[in-house]
Amino acid sequence: MEGVTVVDHPLVQHKLTLMRDKQRSTKGFRQLLNEIGMLLCYEVTRNLPMERIEIETPLTTMEGVQIAGKKLVFAPILRAGVGFLDGMLTLVPAARVAHIGLYRDPESLQAVEYYFKAPSDLADRMVLVLDPMLATANSAVAAIERLKERGAKDLRFVCLLAAPEGIERLRSAHPDVHIWTAAVDEKLNDHGYIVPGLGDAGDRMYGTR
Ligand code: PRP
Ligand code: URA
Repeated sequence: MEGVTVVDHPLVQHKLTLMRDKQRSTKGFRQLLNEIGMLLCYEVTRNLPMERIEIETPLTTMEGVQIAGKKLVFAPILRAGVGFLDGMLTLVPAARVAHIGLYRDPESLQAVEYYFKAPSDLADRMVLVLDPMLATANSAVAAIERLKERGAKDLRFVCLLAAPEGIERLRSAHPDVHIWTAAVDEKLNDHGYIVPGLGDAGDRMYGTR
C-alpha cells in the first residue's frame, strides 16, 4: 500500500494481540501501548537523515555519525495519543512535544478541538503525529491541518490500528504524510469504530467509560 508502512515485527504483533483482548486490564493496556510506542518509534525513525561528526574516543579521533537537523517533535492527539509518548520519549529524550486536544463528536464523528500547544519553530523540525486509532481519519486530518497552519512541513503519522477508510481519507487529504501502523483492520462499523479493533483506546487506557 503506497504511503503506508505496516510494522509487522513479532514483538509488535504479539503485544497488539494482548491489547485487543477485552479482558486486558487498564494497567496492562497502558503498559503495552507504551511498549509498542517504543517499538514503533524505532521503526519510524529508521531512515532519519544522518550527518558525520568528528569525536575523540579514549584512544584516537574518529568520524562518527549523528542524527542531522533539529530535535524531533512528537505530537500526540489527546487523549489516547499520549499513551505512545512515554515510550517514544524514552528513545528520543530530547524531542519536543506538541499537544493537540481533539475529541470525536459521537454523532457527526467530526473532530472538535479543545487544546493546542506546539513549539513555535515547527517549520524547521520533523513532526511525528501520534494517535493509536486511525478510524474515519477526521482527527488525524484535523491535527495535521492545524500543524501545517503553524508551519510544519515534514510530518509522519504513527498509529496502532488503521481502518482502510481512514488510510484512504488521510492519504487523499495529506498525500505527503507517510503512515506507520501496526495493523490495517477490516472496516469501520456504523458508529465509526474499527472492527475487529480494540474498542475505545482512550477509555481503555484511562479506565473511563
Ligand atoms: C479516538 C482516538 C482518535 C480518534 C480516531 O479519540 O483516540 O483520536 O478517536 O477516530 P477518527 O479517526 O474517526 O477521528 P476520541 O475522540 O475517542 O477521544 P479520546 O482519545 O479523548 O478518548
Ligand atoms: N477511536 C477509538 O478509540 N476506537 C475506534 O475503534 C475508533 C475510534
